[in-house]
Amino acid sequence: MLDSTRLRNPSLFDKIVSPEEAALLIKDGMNVGVSGFTPSGYPKKTTLALAKAIKEGKKCRINIWSGASVGPEIEEELAKVNGIKGRMPYYAASNKTICEQINSSQIDYLDQHLSHFAQQIDYGFFGDVDVAIVEAAAITKEGNLILGPGVGNTPMLVKHAKKIIVEVNTSIPLNIEGMHDIYICQKPPFRTEIPIYSVGDRIGTPYVECGLKRIDCIVESDILDHVRNLSEPDDTSKKIAANLVDFLENEQKQGRLPEKMLPLQSGVGSIANAVLMGLSQSKFENLTMYSEILQDSVFGLIKSGKVIQASGCAFTPSPKVWQMYKEDPDLYRKTIVLRPLDISNNPEVIRRLGVISLNTPLEFDIYGQANSTHVLGSRMMNGIGGSGDYMRNGYLTIFSTPSTAKGGNISSIVPMVSHADHTEHDTMVFITEQGVADVRGLSPIKRAKLIIEKCAHPNYRDQLFEYLKIAQRKNAHMPVDLDHAFDMHKQLIATGSMQK
Ligand code: COA
Repeated sequence: MLDSTRLRNPSLFDKIVSPEEAALLIKDGMNVGVSGFTPSGYPKKTTLALAKAIKEGKKCRINIWSGASVGPEIEEELAKVNGIKGRMPYYAASNKTICEQINSSQIDYLDQHLSHFAQQIDYGFFGDVDVAIVEAAAITKEGNLILGPGVGNTPMLVKHAKKIIVEVNTSIPLNIEGMHDIYICQKPPFRTEIPIYSVGDRIGTPYVECGLKRIDCIVESDILDHVRNLSEPDDTSKKIAANLVDFLENEQKQGRLPEKMLPLQSGVGSIANAVLMGLSQSKFENLTMYSEILQDSVFGLIKSGKVIQASGCAFTPSPKVWQMYKEDPDLYRKTIVLRPLDISNNPEVIRRLGVISLNTPLEFDIYGQANSTHVLGSRMMNGIGGSGDYMRNGYLTIFSTPSTAKGGNISSIVPMVSHADHTEHDTMVFITEQGVADVRGLSPIKRAKLIIEKCAHPNYRDQLFEYLKIAQRKNAHMPVDLDHAFDMHKQLIATGSMQK
């Protein structure tokens, strides 16, 4: 039940409506901004009511703009009733219906570097934000919004929204207040530097500025974020983590990393989570993170004292994480800073802090190009997310993945990626359970030999060396043989493990 701890100005109680009434504000063709980042802090009740209305005959297809992927209450339920016309800037394959509709071009989807989107909204590249639906823990006396576990692009969506629906979710602990640091960059040419000089610096407000007058209606909610469980670390990911720790220790010995470790960024998914968890076994202490999403393992590292400061634009609100949070809210509130996405992923800050970026690709090639998004070059898995923001701008950038996928039926190291998200100019170090290929300073053929030798699975090494030999007949700087470049992908199709 909403009370004065959640709605801190009496006038706000007059704005409470049912989800069905709130959904009436959303009309066919509108651009609708939603709060949240991955299934963290996204609204649920209004979109469920909208989906029901569409099912019952309302004509309405909308464009959904967010921080990243959100939960099934938006991406599944609206997609099932054909209610999504366009989607930006990210989605994840875990929501199956939207995945199918994006891959069959029923939904216009634009995959973007996540640090770009807020600025594009600010400039109106894609039109107006007709409605913003924001999930909040509370609304202040002045009408400002205390967010939950995900910030994403909410501040910019609220800045531009013509109409604002706030879902106040009573399942979000009120003591999350104080974790957020909301800062909106000025537009060029008036933009100054972002004054973050260390991971924990706070430069903004603990709420999203909104104002009482701009809130059109309030919906009460208690639905928890729908979080998929990440798989437990297996032997392969433990070996990858051990290789990472050895590599970082050696970098310190060589004087290429300072004694006090530089901030870490860790990507999305089970592998990234498991690799980060591996750091708990390392000798590293007093670690800091300047990352996008703070997955479950970060909470474990904070609890054990390994991580002393963590900045992100969201944390993964799994039942396990909420339980840990509730046991010691002060610890997590003092350790974590949640920022807008264009600040967590900002190239300027990533460069300044010297972030060590750790991300997982689907596949990478012998020359060091990586594919994070498109299976067999065409079918979208997950979006590029922040991987480009971090891999292009980090001090040290590391891609780690098992050397094979699909039960060993495909090599994750291929002659040529079927889709290039990260070119060889952006990548530095590759780690699999087989070993580490540090390709900094190496010309293409030297890179290729090292990557095959250190990272490829023994079952695929000969085939990759054979390809390199064929390609080298061209006697070129970065030899590619187009007749054979995709043989491994074709083999995979032939095994039947994947469709074209
Ligand atoms: N070819 C085809 N499919 C592949 C593959 C390959 N080389 N490698 C992995 N996959 C498939 C897996 O089979 C699995 O598919 P399934 O769900 O149908 O079984 C899926 O990709 C996810 O792989 P999984 O092994 O569960 O790993 P993960 O949860 O760690 O996710 C990525 C891996 C690549 C999908 C994930 O890291 C990602 O989305 N990366 C891109 C975005 C990014 O880097 N964001 C970071 C933001 S800061």
